[in-house]
Amino acid sequence: LSCETSGLQPRPPGTFEVLAQAPGSPARAGRLWTAHGPIDTPCFMPVGTYGAVKGLDADDLREVGAQIILGNSYHLGHRPGAARVAALGGLHRMMAWDRPILTDSGGFQVFSLRGLQKIDDAGVSYQTHFDGSRHRMTPESVLATQAALGSDICMILDHCPPADAEPALIRAAVDRSTRWAEEAARRRGEILQPGQLCFGIVQGGTNVALRREHLKALADLPFDGLALGGLSVGEPIPEMHATMAAVGPEMPQDRPRYVMGIGTPHDLLAAVRSGIDMFDCVMPTRHARNGQFFTFSGRLNIRQSRFRDDDAPVDAACRCRCCARYSRAYLRHLHEQNEPLYGRLATIHNLYFYQQWVGALRRALRSGRFEALESEFLSIISTVYA
Ligand code: GUN
Ligand code: ZN
Repeated sequence: LSCETSGLQPRPPGTFEVLAQAPGSPARAGRLWTAHGPIDTPCFMPVGTYGAVKGLDADDLREVGAQIILGNSYHLGHRPGAARVAALGGLHRMMAWDRPILTDSGGFQVFSLRGLQKIDDAGVSYQTHFDGSRHRMTPESVLATQAALGSDICMILDHCPPADAEPALIRAAVDRSTRWAEEAARRRGEILQPGQLCFGIVQGGTNVALRREHLKALADLPFDGLALGGLSVGEPIPEMHATMAAVGPEMPQDRPRYVMGIGTPHDLLAAVRSGIDMFDCVMPTRHARNGQFFTFSGRLNIRQSRFRDDDAPVDAACRCRCCARYSRAYLRHLHEQNEPLYGRLATIHNLYFYQQWVGALRRALRSGRFEALESEFLSIISTVYA
């Protein structure tokens, strides 16, 4: 394990320790224990939808500093299938990854299958985007899928409406998600394997009153952590940040708090400032494949012709394998030629950058320097990430 967590006395899965609390702020650093070891928070989870972070294997993921990765039970449940993954020894064994894995329930993916899904009080019937075959998801079935995959943290079935949905639909989605959460909480003990954690998901769009109401209902249920869902789904960024700032500090302090599907380096800072502990996003991996590199002096697009003869690394201050060995000119060439090596190197750099950023946030929180780091970063982003 990483230097932050090696040599620690293991704690039971679900144990969450708050190690440092920023003075006068909800921001904190902590540690969550799972059946596959601890996660230092704030933490960023690289996305491996189909059981692979595109282009990287477990050694690469360790090298960039990932402590936990995210998989998707909608995708894995259909391809290669949850029973097949179970027969192959589970997701960890199949991927040769022995650190924690969180899986999303699949609700979010099914609700983005426009027109191919029909929702009712007990669950959702849908046709897959793979082959149009018909299936059904219920609060119980998504937990059963995640039990078969063997993930460390399982997410419940929720209804995530689009950001531009009518208020009545957002209200209906919250009420339905509450009933599904109650069902998940009631059945998790018999469906999940011992040691598997289960997180609830709070919806409500950018309506803070509705968010508070949903949070209140879910905080009373026996979940190991709570997530904010339905953010970064097309609403204006300031509204997304304002929702996190209003709701994050009211989430239970003694359990981990997770915002699903964010975000930019700035979004991560806004979330940490709101007391959030965990995030996941395709941004570093997807941007890498599109030619966008994150650095602490701004973004760089490797496709630009000005890099054709540039022998410098992407970021001279970066200690990742991509920057230690290769030039911008070489990376640009690999990208132009669609060489598979390009995606691997670019993904290594961007994930390393994200892990460095959350690592800096953790160290700042633990040493009481969060405010200083925050103002330093805000002055940087107002110029280079504007
Ligand atoms: N991923 C990003 N947002 C969401 C959400 O609202 N619900 C679920 N289940 N997954 C998500
Ligand atoms: Zn690098």
